[in-house]
Amino acid sequence: MPDKEEKIEHTMRDLCDEDIPQLLVLEEKTQSSPWTEEAFRRCRQANYPGWVLEKDSKLLGFVMISLSAGECHILNLCVDPVFQGKKLGRKLMIAALIWAKQQGAMIVYLEVRRSNIRAIKLYQKMHFSEIGIRKNYYPKEEGGEDALVLARDISVEDQEDIDQ
Ligand SMILES: CC(C)(COP(=O)(O)OP(=O)(O)OC[C@H]1O[C@@H](n2cnc3c(N)ncnc32)[C@H](O)[C@@H]1OP(=O)(O)O)[C@@H](O)C(=O)NCCC(=O)NCCS
Repeated sequence: MPDKEEKIEHTMRDLCDEDIPQLLVLEEKTQSSPWTEEAFRRCRQANYPGWVLEKDSKLLGFVMISLSAGECHILNLCVDPVFQGKKLGRKLMIAALIWAKQQGAMIVYLEVRRSNIRAIKLYQKMHFSEIGIRKNYYPKEEGGEDALVLARDISVEDQEDIDQ
């Protein structure tokens, strides 16, 4: 396992259909309710953009978004557990936000499990604020788990300010 301080050499590129098998593996490793192949294919058919981080043809993480009527939604964000805590999640988010801003997005929304402290910390550091709660939104063995709805207004920011 790479140590905390090791810099991970990688490249970022657009997500493509051929990535789906590796995306499914990442999902299984990281999510309690992993996306299915059909979910990924539906997003690809809808032309939702996404980006992957890659090292030696192995995917380290990805982000997938949708954009419509000035609203960007972060649909999925995931980093391989071996490479978490090395700012790769932040890097993917910044790429998505800069692209959305370039396309005219005014606001970015996402949902996150209440218990997902690591992701919530990342989003708070990236200036997302809680704007609502969806009760029992995520499946759980007993009952459901609430989703926090977070948003960041990017309408007044310069593109260069997005990664601050
Ligand atoms: C959430 C996730 C994408 C974050 O990616 P990551 O590459 O680990 O995050 P980063 O290294 O960019 O960390 C950015 C910030 O997140 C927080 N963070 C990262 N690792 C953390 C940890 N182990 N504990 C608490 N906070 C943590 C910190 O605030 C960190 O900033 P800092 O290093 O300046 O303190 C990743 O943990 C993941 O894939 N989790 C499983 C899937 C998931 O939950 N996706 C989000 C669904 S909404």
